[in-house]
Amino acid sequence: MIENKIIDENRQGEAIVLEDGNVGGKKLFLESYGCQMNFADSEIVASILSKNGYSTTDKFEEADVIFVNTCAIRDNAEVRVRKRLHDFKKAKKKNPNMVVGVLGCMAERLKHQFLDEEKIVDLVVGPDAYRDIPNLIEQAESGHKAVNVILSKEETYADITPVRLGSNGVSSFISIMRGCDNMCSFCVVPFTRGRERSRDPESIIAEAHDLFAKGYREVTLLGQNVDSYLWSGGGLKKETLTEEQKANSLNFAQLLEKVALVNPDLRVRFSTSHPKDMTDDVLHIIAKYENVCKYIHLPVQSGSSRILEMMNRGYTREWYLDRIAAIRRIIPECGISTDSISGFCSETDEEHQETVSLFREVQYDFAYMFMYSERPKTLAERKYEDNIPEDVKKTRLQEIVALQLENSAIKTKEGVGKVHKVLVEGTSKKSADQLMGRNTQNTVVVFPKLHYKKGDYVNVLATSCTSGTLIGEAVE
Ligand code: SAH
Ligand code: SF4
Ligand code: F3S
Repeated sequence: MIENKIIDENRQGEAIVLEDGNVGGKKLFLESYGCQMNFADSEIVASILSKNGYSTTDKFEEADVIFVNTCAIRDNAEVRVRKRLHDFKKAKKKNPNMVVGVLGCMAERLKHQFLDEEKIVDLVVGPDAYRDIPNLIEQAESGHKAVNVILSKEETYADITPVRLGSNGVSSFISIMRGCDNMCSFCVVPFTRGRERSRDPESIIAEAHDLFAKGYREVTLLGQNVDSYLWSGGGLKKETLTEEQKANSLNFAQLLEKVALVNPDLRVRFSTSHPKDMTDDVLHIIAKYENVCKYIHLPVQSGSSRILEMMNRGYTREWYLDRIAAIRRIIPECGISTDSISGFCSETDEEHQETVSLFREVQYDFAYMFMYSERPKTLAERKYEDNIPEDVKKTRLQEIVALQLENSAIKTKEGVGKVHKVLVEGTSKKSADQLMGRNTQNTVVVFPKLHYKKGDYVNVLATSCTSGTLIGEAVE
């Protein structure tokens, strides 16, 4: 199977079902698009609605309330949501009392405009206003369209225990921060998610303990830039801290260590690291704890320092390669993945070739590769012309994808002949006699079931592979 795909979002939209077994009452259909943070947010929304007596349905035709949690990262992410709203239109015609709500980043970007553009929408809710959803539904039910897109500097939903949706019961997300202060020139996230804020570490640790007690064996700590996590106690704002207060605060390396200590059998992953902020301290913690996975997602975006400067990424090609060298030095066995954007404003063929050569040099295990999509209100939209023709963007993207496919295949092959500690996530899609799980580097491993089950750690000797999956058998 080919694992590196040209994808529009990090995950496809999917309907997800509440697990708490509320029966009777009103029915919610919830569909999510976009990144892991959006999926984690849907679990907060589900928790809020389940407390209000909602059960879920996976058939939108039967729902009292339809929610779409949306993504605005690229234009095609928004096109997909609009198409989906057309499907819901028919259901609403049959049942005019049905409430259709748009949540998340596209809701935040378009605000009231959504109500004018898409007549079927009753409710528009931004990422920091989910506590208000029960009120907003009431308002919509009484025939008034409802909007809450207020962004907050404090909201982290720290006290809400998410209802785990579509979960395999083994791995789960924990949001550790919200928003982003970075202002990369191509990116809409600072506008849709607001200012960066970190969540109280006690609530993060408590959530990790709770998940472990419920049988989960892997958590992924989520933030747009986890390396800039900083908790300085009740209500203190990062930007107002003195150097001394900063030194007394809890940073990401320290948080990661605390989560690693929750239980040696709880694997810890995190996403996303930012090359300008990733410290050697974090790398040393990864190296020190066996249960912190040896895998880092380090988005490069471009291999050209001039383009990186225009993107406002805060690092050069050399700085980025130095961070890669630090990973290889401190955690030699580490898996590394990345994101890239092809055809950013004014990118020349030579600059594109710098991205190609960087991919060749780093040899990523995995990559998410995109064509540049201009987003309204971003710095790039205001300052630069989106002047690379679509077909050139596409050709450049294809060149990178082809190279990455080769790299992934080489990387996967390197795992053959070695024993991997695999956390079993479930049965293989292809065969009920096979289990699937991941090794610490995040590579999928498939092997015969025997007496093993979901949630077990199994040592697997890899005997062969496809381009992205290791195939093997359990060894004692
Ligand atoms: N916070 C993360 C990324 C969040 S968005 C980081 O800083 O790396 C996920 C990825 O989408 C980005 O890494 C980037 O590669 C891509 N992306 C963001 N905006 C884009 C745009 N306007 N056009 C194309 N790709 C974009
Ligand atoms: Fe967007 Fe940059 Fe923030 Fe990532 S770090 S979310 S790319 S602004
Ligand atoms: Fe999309 Fe918002 Fe995530 S724009 S990528 S859902 S933060």
